[in-house]
Amino acid sequence: MDLTRALLDWYDRHARRLPWRLPPASRERPDPYRVWLAEVMLQQTTVAAVLPRYGRFLARWPDVAALAAAPEAEVMAEWAGLGYYARARNLIACARAVAERGGFPETEEELRTLPGLGAYTAASVAAIAFGQQVAVVDGNVERVIARAFDIATPLPQARRTIRDRVATLVPAGRPGDFAQALMDLGATLCTPRRPACVLCPWCEACLARRHGTTLQRPVKPPR
Ligand code: ADE
Repeated sequence: MDLTRALLDWYDRHARRLPWRLPPASRERPDPYRVWLAEVMLQQTTVAAVLPRYGRFLARWPDVAALAAAPEAEVMAEWAGLGYYARARNLIACARAVAERGGFPETEEELRTLPGLGAYTAASVAAIAFGQQVAVVDGNVERVIARAFDIATPLPQARRTIRDRVATLVPAGRPGDFAQALMDLGATLCTPRRPACVLCPWCEACLARRHGTTLQRPVKPPR
């Protein structure tokens, strides 16, 4: 079975139920505002820390128009504790820009022009909210891919190879699920120090496992 199919099958059975995800097999379209808000909150903050804040934030500002109209001080106060206040300032600027243009743009390239959307966030919103076939790579994904393909080049040079590998695996049909499946694999099984290889859908194919290099991948930058 190919890697993409194996990962999506695993995700169908084991996806974490997170409030910014639609229920499994839902036919609804994701709300780009909810996806964007989650991805910005998750930029430098763990899932566990975001969970209690996400619902509160949405209850207060349920759509982009509401957030665009919010007084800046109130948003900053609600953001307190998530840290990195530049993110909250960009969040407001982005909400205002999106409200102004009448909705989120759908491509990675256009999303990239919005305040606070770097390469990762633009790609994740494009894939998850708009079904665009793009590679979404965060730290967890880097580890999973560096192991699956036993990439011995150190970071950050390995990033290009890693991105190219992900790009060859992203399916046209379910790019958002694929992105989130890789994140879940990295967060729950393919962990830095104690990977649970026996449970991994890529166990048989994983080159680092075959070569005994799992704990040495990805290779850190020389210091
Ligand atoms: N970290 C960043 N984005 C995420 C997502 N959509 N699901 C789980 N963890 C994430």
